[in-house]
Amino acid sequence: MADDGRTAGPAHDIVDVIRTKRDGGTLSDAEIDWTIASYTEGAVADEQVSALLMAIFLRGMSPAELSRWTEAILSSGERIDLSGLTRPTVDKHSTGGVGDKVSLVLAPLVAACGAAVPQLSGRGLGHTGGTLDKLEAIPGFRSTLTVDQVRAQLERVGCVICAAGPGLAPADRKLYALRDVTGTVESIPLIAASIMSKKIAEGTSSLVLDVKVGSGAFMTDREAAAELARTMVALGRDHGLDVVALLTAMDTPLGATAGNALEVAEAIEVLAGGGPADLLAVTLALAREMLGLAGIDADPAAALRDGSALACWREMVAAQGGDPDAELPRARLVETVRADRSGYVTRLDARAVGVAAWRLGAGRARKEDPVSATAGVVCRAKPGDEVRVGDVVLELHGDDPARFDRARAALAGAVELADAPGPTADVVYERIGVPREAPGD
Ligand code: URA
Repeated sequence: MADDGRTAGPAHDIVDVIRTKRDGGTLSDAEIDWTIASYTEGAVADEQVSALLMAIFLRGMSPAELSRWTEAILSSGERIDLSGLTRPTVDKHSTGGVGDKVSLVLAPLVAACGAAVPQLSGRGLGHTGGTLDKLEAIPGFRSTLTVDQVRAQLERVGCVICAAGPGLAPADRKLYALRDVTGTVESIPLIAASIMSKKIAEGTSSLVLDVKVGSGAFMTDREAAAELARTMVALGRDHGLDVVALLTAMDTPLGATAGNALEVAEAIEVLAGGGPADLLAVTLALAREMLGLAGIDADPAAALRDGSALACWREMVAAQGGDPDAELPRARLVETVRADRSGYVTRLDARAVGVAAWRLGAGRARKEDPVSATAGVVCRAKPGDEVRVGDVVLELHGDDPARFDRARAALAGAVELADAPGPTADVVYERIGVPREAPGD
């Protein structure tokens, strides 16, 4: 018989656990371990854990509780052992943003400089795209690899971007699905534990976090983003991982494109030594942090200039069944949004562009939905650019004519034009984590 958590036998009573948290108390290590293990095996009901998650959402967790909660999620599955690799391992995780194709460039770039980058990723949900959805726009690309294949590719090529297997942190899979339908996603401790348990399980020795701040990000408030970053850095330290976080701008889309094949094409431009300045700046800042943590003294900008990063990308794509020379799919239909006056673009709202790309088919509403490889938005002008009345500001790409009206509706008010350019801002706001070593140390 399924144990509902209140019958004789279990070590703890889930209702007591919920009450403790509801009333602002502290959960013991044993209660946390028991709750996560019992929920993973189905012995505690969804509605009980929903109540606990809401209590955590409202009351928070102490650092000790959070560390144990993360450990318990980690222990619900396997932990990949990458210690046998000859290269130092370092990964990057982004909290997600519109047009965020940085991983596509960063993994081969940092690998070309000598590190091993095990990017075990997820698929996109909502208005930010998933890295795997982008890569799967490449004909033949395979995202599902075994752990042995991951290890072999890391040793030979230096990078892999593939799906995290079901054996990694299975408790998080259940908890995240429950949070999604109970209004408990936006909790700093729950987000931190969810992300860090998966990254620790993947076996990397060090990690750089790209914590996005702005309208297109999870966190719209800079102080909340900094707290999330500090929380994840501390969790990494508790589990023997060196972690650095960069807070980066996400008020406007990163680069010029949002949409799967469109973003792959733009990532290849950067790998070939070109690409938009904001995308390049974020990519190089993250690459320098990753190389610093890996103990590699190399200039990532040189690896973009000399073709070695692009060569590594081609090897990674080919190793995962993709054809690096194949033409990327293109949308059948392209419509435009034009400037209604002359002036300077002072705002191009990331969230609106993300929702428009999503409505065109680039993203999914439920995790089982298919995504379109070709749908998306191209930003022909970005904040700071001067346009004349009638110039194209945005292009909407898609295959389904029925989707365009709702995509246009998402963009109402998303572009602001003024007589003078607005103030320019750095794309990297802040660094949180282990101190950077001085040159020559
Ligand atoms: N991404 C995750 O993996 N988990 C969260 O809780 C939020 C974002």
